[in-house]
Amino acid sequence: MIEDTQTATLHLAADEARRAPSILNTQPWRWQVHDGALDLHADPARRLGSVDPQGRLLTLSCGAALHHARVALAAAGHEPVVERLPDPADPSLLARVRAGRPRPAGDDDRLTYEAMLRRRTDRRRFGSPVPMAPEALAALRAAAEAEHARLHRLRPGEVEYLGYAAQGAHVLDAKDEGRVAEQQAWTHRGPGSADGMTGDAVPAPADRPVPLRDFALGGEATLDPGPGDESNVEYLAVVTDGDGVEDWLAAGEATSAVWLAAVARGLAASPLSDVVEIPGARALLGSLIEPAGHPQLVLRVGVDPDPAPPPASPRRPARDVIDGGEATR
Ligand SMILES: Cc1cc2nc3c(=O)[nH]c(=O)nc-3n(C[C@H](O)[C@H](O)[C@H](O)COP(=O)(O)O)c2cc1C
Repeated sequence: MIEDTQTATLHLAADEARRAPSILNTQPWRWQVHDGALDLHADPARRLGSVDPQGRLLTLSCGAALHHARVALAAAGHEPVVERLPDPADPSLLARVRAGRPRPAGDDDRLTYEAMLRRRTDRRRFGSPVPMAPEALAALRAAAEAEHARLHRLRPGEVEYLGYAAQGAHVLDAKDEGRVAEQQAWTHRGPGSADGMTGDAVPAPADRPVPLRDFALGGEATLDPGPGDESNVEYLAVVTDGDGVEDWLAAGEATSAVWLAAVARGLAASPLSDVVEIPGARALLGSLIEPAGHPQLVLRVGVDPDPAPPPASPRRPARDVIDGGEATR
């Protein structure tokens, strides 16, 4: 009986983790519930061979899903216990999660869980008459550090360089047929698709200090960019000391943690990974990081003056991403 409850709890955590953000909404994860454990596997068939040859962004996306599962477990009153990369013989097994001792959910657990339910990638223009409160920035930094990563806040002069890195990335992107074809494929999945992106989630071109990638959508990017003027936007690079699979996984967990901490404080965010996909752009960004480290992603964080949320992206059904544990549901 206890085992059945554990299985149901773990299945629910995997189910809730489907909400996690992922590169081009590829949702490159598979969960397996077995013997009182929940295994997180990377799905290599969903790796983007041209955009993400090393599988770094795939692993980051899985890290975000892992953090989402932890948030769900904590909100359900269980201490999440996680072994990362538990089997050296199976590199696709990124983590094994167990529901540890019961522990009443605290206010932070609940607020983070509620933020997880609300979170969406918001690519519209932000704008606020006041800068982000120092306490909020400190909370986002702490969220990254709790996940063995850190945030580098780009100063105004550095944002200009980030803008150059993004522009350069877009020029090289457009010249790379493999990258264009892959983005085309994941932004034109067809009606009713459970994965990928559509033009209504991507704003039409607008003035911005750091230009947005166009996902090979061209004129099909139709979301209203909104009334914001991008004032008081923060660009926060998620940085790790190393650059191996465990660092990418940590960066994904940190990205989710920082993003949910931002949403819990009424802020909105969208990631920029084009600037870490193209090696030259990543090197330029890396040269700004002090103390030296590896930039894994940049989060653009600010206040969206539009109170209505941007369109939701689709998700794959639970039966396609979770094996085992259904019998008890
Ligand atoms: C590793 C990673 C990289 C991403 N890169 C970008 C990006 O460069 N530009 C962007 O607008 N969104 C980016 N995203 C956001 C995804 O496109 C988004 O999570 C996905 O489409 C699902 O939408 P949702 O976050 O609203 O649920 C990225 C997300 C992850 C996890």
